[in-house]
Amino acid sequence: MSSRSKSTFRCTECGADHPKWAGRCDACGAWNSLAEEMAAKTVPTGGASRRAGGALSLAAGGSVALTPRLRDVDGSHARRWTTGIDEFDFVLGGGIVPGSMVLIGGEPGIGKSTLLLQVAARLQAGGHSTLYASGEESALQIKLRADRLLEDAGDVSLLSETNLETVLTTAASVSPAVLVVDSIQTVFTNDLDGAPGNVGQVRECAARLMRFAKESGTAVFVVGHVTKGGGIAGPKTLEHIVDTVLYFEGENSIDHRVLRATKNRFGSVDEIGVFRMAQDGLVPVANPSELFLGDRSMHASGSAVTALIEGSRPILIEIQALAAKAGFGTPQRVATGYDGRRLALLLAVLDKRAGLSFGLLDVFLNVVGGMRLHEPAGDLAVAVALASSVYDRALSHDAVFVGEVGLGGEIRPVSQAERRLSEAANMGMTTAYLAERAVPARVPKGLRAIGVRTIADLFERVFT
Ligand code: TYD
Ligand code: MG
Repeated sequence: MSSRSKSTFRCTECGADHPKWAGRCDACGAWNSLAEEMAAKTVPTGGASRRAGGALSLAAGGSVALTPRLRDVDGSHARRWTTGIDEFDFVLGGGIVPGSMVLIGGEPGIGKSTLLLQVAARLQAGGHSTLYASGEESALQIKLRADRLLEDAGDVSLLSETNLETVLTTAASVSPAVLVVDSIQTVFTNDLDGAPGNVGQVRECAARLMRFAKESGTAVFVVGHVTKGGGIAGPKTLEHIVDTVLYFEGENSIDHRVLRATKNRFGSVDEIGVFRMAQDGLVPVANPSELFLGDRSMHASGSAVTALIEGSRPILIEIQALAAKAGFGTPQRVATGYDGRRLALLLAVLDKRAGLSFGLLDVFLNVVGGMRLHEPAGDLAVAVALASSVYDRALSHDAVFVGEVGLGGEIRPVSQAERRLSEAANMGMTTAYLAERAVPARVPKGLRAIGVRTIADLFERVFT
């Protein structure tokens, strides 16, 4: 027989336990329903008396059952709501988890409000009521955006409001399946001094929205603006509060957008979803490789293709390099979508191990399509694109390069070579260059895998 030394209070309506007495049960909202469970310090064996309307629950063996067994936990909330916007559902890990809180970060103008309005419209049409609270735009402005969209957002409930208390009381009375707060920088709580957008306000508002999500089961999406440098005292401090963080990447000037999960309590991180910003909203791109390789010029030097793994998916992207005679002074090194120090390192390796000197050349490197090259697997393509530009010799249009380049000029194997090669084959590539040790036993049909040891070895094969 177990014993406990402290009283707890159980709601006679819903059975929820409370550490302290209160006039109202905060789980079911019933008044005067809390009954003290047990006041005695110890319970004599077999002598537990039932009190307060039978609030004390005894399990079959006579022990007090207060903690649920795992098998008794209701798992129904693990279901997800899908929007039908495939890339969005995919990045979330298969749809929206009720009661979760998701932060969508990105630079102003990248498409956060557009995406969430589309999501709201889809959910509403699918029978999940949606409340869109905007502190940024008036109802009219939101309507003008909605009119452009392919989706019909006509039934989405709107709230043009910056006061968090009003947003929360409205949400509590409407109880939507999904609440959108656009943006966290524009809402404020009366309980704190300070203007909307300051760190204290942002954190407190987010914490309250999180509590609301957990208590009500409403899924909450919050928009957070991030500036170019990744700065602004907002989203970064919010990341550990929320369940899931999605960042919109991309250049405003280019029409495709990459939505990346950098944190996900309900799915895997680093998954990406690719969209194209069209006249009628964001359109999911089912085959990102096609998009990123789409505009390749046929026979220009300095272009090479690599196969990356983004999250769980392989994607082919093009790297462009231009090495041109420098003017006066220190030659320039400009990398877009690629780490500048990594570029400097590769240039040194090319000089030392392949006899390619960049000392008098300006070097520009671009990862096409606004993508960022995070993986060392892209090194080989960067190196060969640079060499291609220096020699002014175009590479075969159907070749893909996968491998990490070491300081000794050696080419190292990378993970998941087979999956990269099959994506390359799917995209019509015919030759893959990779580290000798990484050549898989089974190479996809239509593709020739060529193992190379060093960059000098590779250059000899492709340029002579
Ligand atoms: P928006 O969603 O307002 O960005 P954010 O909320 O991240 O600040 O996106 C604004 C940009 O998207 C704006 O430049 C107009 C463009 N846009 C389109 O190209 N097509 C569309 O259908 C919509 C609604 C917007
Ligand atoms: Mg916006």
